[in-house]
Amino acid sequence: MGGKLLAGRVAAVTGAGNGLGAAEAVALAAAGARLVLNDLPGAALETVGETIRSAGGEAVLCPGDVADFPTGEALVRRAVEAFGGLDILVNNAGVLRDRMVFAMSEQEWDAVIRVHLRGHFVTTRFATAYWRERSKATGAPVYARIVNTSSEAFLLGSAGQPNYAAAKGGIVALTLTTARGCARYGVRANAICPRARTAMTGDLMGPPPDGPDPLAPERVAPLVTYLAGPAGARITGEVFVVHSDVVAVLGPPTVRASFRAPAGQWSATELDTALAPLFTGDPPQPGFVCEDTLPLAAATFGEDR
Ligand SMILES: NC(=O)c1ccc[n+]([C@@H]2O[C@H](COP(=O)([O-])OP(=O)(O)OC[C@H]3O[C@@H](n4cnc5c(N)ncnc54)[C@H](O)[C@@H]3O)[C@@H](O)[C@H]2O)c1
Repeated sequence: MGGKLLAGRVAAVTGAGNGLGAAEAVALAAAGARLVLNDLPGAALETVGETIRSAGGEAVLCPGDVADFPTGEALVRRAVEAFGGLDILVNNAGVLRDRMVFAMSEQEWDAVIRVHLRGHFVTTRFATAYWRERSKATGAPVYARIVNTSSEAFLLGSAGQPNYAAAKGGIVALTLTTARGCARYGVRANAICPRARTAMTGDLMGPPPDGPDPLAPERVAPLVTYLAGPAGARITGEVFVVHSDVVAVLGPPTVRASFRAPAGQWSATELDTALAPLFTGDPPQPGFVCEDTLPLAAATFGEDR
């Protein structure tokens, strides 16, 4: 294990029973990390634990609903009890309840916000408290990496996913506040927007091709391992798009145009004079949308996906 990227590190992965979480957990273990695996209780989580152990790795299970406060607390406690600490947190657990906003039930809204956004918060809250305490005890920054899971659904304002897109946007904001608020303790927090053929997306993406699948979750896992590793010390508050052979670093939103009120305070007429030339599309198109990531997927998905 000595020469491995994550030798001696302890990583917790939420939603590790399937799809991206399972691939990421297996990759982190292959890189030498000891794993605390979270998912809802069930055979899937146990199977991933077995997979890691049978490949010579170490993994313990911490089943539970990731949005429950006690699950976040248990995740950190389990890491400390089993392996003596926690170094890496990969927030990945998620569900979909797709519906247009005008037809969405409050249960569909709450379920998705709860698992994704609250789920990311709960684990982050306990992991950062643990790291802050350790940093204060030693008087030095600790080794601490968070990889959160956002989605291009947020960048694009995915029309049929108001709950999911809102949660994923919130996760980017949480990533930034964590990166800024916990930097002094050594915490590095980044977010990925992955694409992969999983149970969540199988209907949309269809069956895999013959031969290697460019949309295998295993194609996403190396970036997570990299961010969790030593090089991740220099990377924080970033958002990546990752799928197939693509890794892209997003830039922040920019100020597109700015104006000053001619007499200190705007009137409606003055606002119209300043702003109307910017908004001439008919019908108007949403302006605060990032479509730059679509061509990155063209080779795998076609231009419009
Ligand atoms: N697959 C994609 O193309 C894609 C695209 C963008 C973002 N994502 C994000 O990647 C993450 C993983 O998605 P996936 O495609 O692997 O889906 P998946 O359905 O294969 O896996 C999600 C896992 O999360 C677990 N989970 C659900 N609710 C939970 C809870 N309350 N507590 C603990 N675990 C829970 C599920 O049991 C499952 O094992 C999600 O956050 C998803 O939104 C996926």
